Amino acid sequence: MKVIITVNYDEMSKKAAEIVKKQIKEKHNTVLGLATGSTPLGMYKLLIEMYKRGEIDFSNVITFNLDEYIGLSPDHPQSYHYFMFHNFFNHINVKKENVHIPNGIAEDLEEECRKYEGEIEKAGGIDLQILGIGVNGHIGFNEPEESIETKTHVVTLTEDTINANKRFFKSAEEVPRKAITMGLGSIMKAKKIVLLASGKNKAEAIKETIKGQLTTKVPATVLALHPDVTIIIDKEAASLIPDEDLKEIEVII
Ligand code: F6R
Repeated sequence: MKVIITVNYDEMSKKAAEIVKKQIKEKHNTVLGLATGSTPLGMYKLLIEMYKRGEIDFSNVITFNLDEYIGLSPDHPQSYHYFMFHNFFNHINVKKENVHIPNGIAEDLEEECRKYEGEIEKAGGIDLQILGIGVNGHIGFNEPEESIETKTHVVTLTEDTINANKRFFKSAEEVPRKAITMGLGSIMKAKKIVLLASGKNKAEAIKETIKGQLTTKVPATVLALHPDVTIIIDKEAASLIPDEDLKEIEVII
C-alpha cells in the first residue's frame, strides 16, 4: 500500500488526475472504475480540463461506476447516473455505450447485479478503480456488517451513510434506503486501486484502513490485501495516522 499525503484537496485531486491520465496514455482502452460523491469532483474537473487541452482521449475508455441508489431514475438529480453525466461524462468524449452504471430502477434487481458483474468481466476487468471512502469506512456502498457479499449486490444503507449523504437531498427521509453496489470482491479484482479522501471526518476511517488489520466493520481494510493500492489523502484525512504507521508509508507532501 502506497500512501501519499498532500497539503490540500486540490493537490490530492491533481495527483489522482495525473494517475488517470498516465493510465489512459498507457492503455487507450482502459477500463476505469469510478466513484461519485464530493471527493472525486476535483479530479473530474481536472480530467475535463486535460481533455479540453487535448491531453487525454476518452474515446476508447470504458467506465464502470461503483454504485447507484435503488428507486432513482437516471434523470433524477440525486441519482449517480445524473451525477456522472453532469459532472464528468457530458464534458469528455467517452462513448455513451462504454459507460456502465448499475440500473437502480431495474425490475429484477438480482438479475441487474448479475448482469453488471458479467459486464465487468466481459470488458476484461477493471484496470484502474477510483474509490472514495465513507466516514464509516465503506467503499462503494459496502457498509460495515458482520458479513459482506463479495459480488455486485443490493445493500441496505446504514444510518451513518444516510446522514452523510442527506446533504445532497432536501431531507434525510428522501435519501434512498437501498442501493446496488459492486462488492468488495468486484473491487479487489481491479488491477490498480486509488483511494481518495479529504477532510477530518475521514481521518478515523483512513487510520483504520492503513493499520493493516482486516475487519468487515471497516470494509476499506480489505484493501490491505491488494497488491497495487495507492491512497491519496490530504493532511486532515491523515491527521489520526499514528507516528509508527506514518514511518512505514511513503509520504509526499
Ligand atoms: C460513491 C461511493 C461512496 C463514496 C463515499 C464518500 O460512488 O461509492 O463510497 O465514495 O461515500 O463520499 P464523499 O466523497 O461524498 O465523501
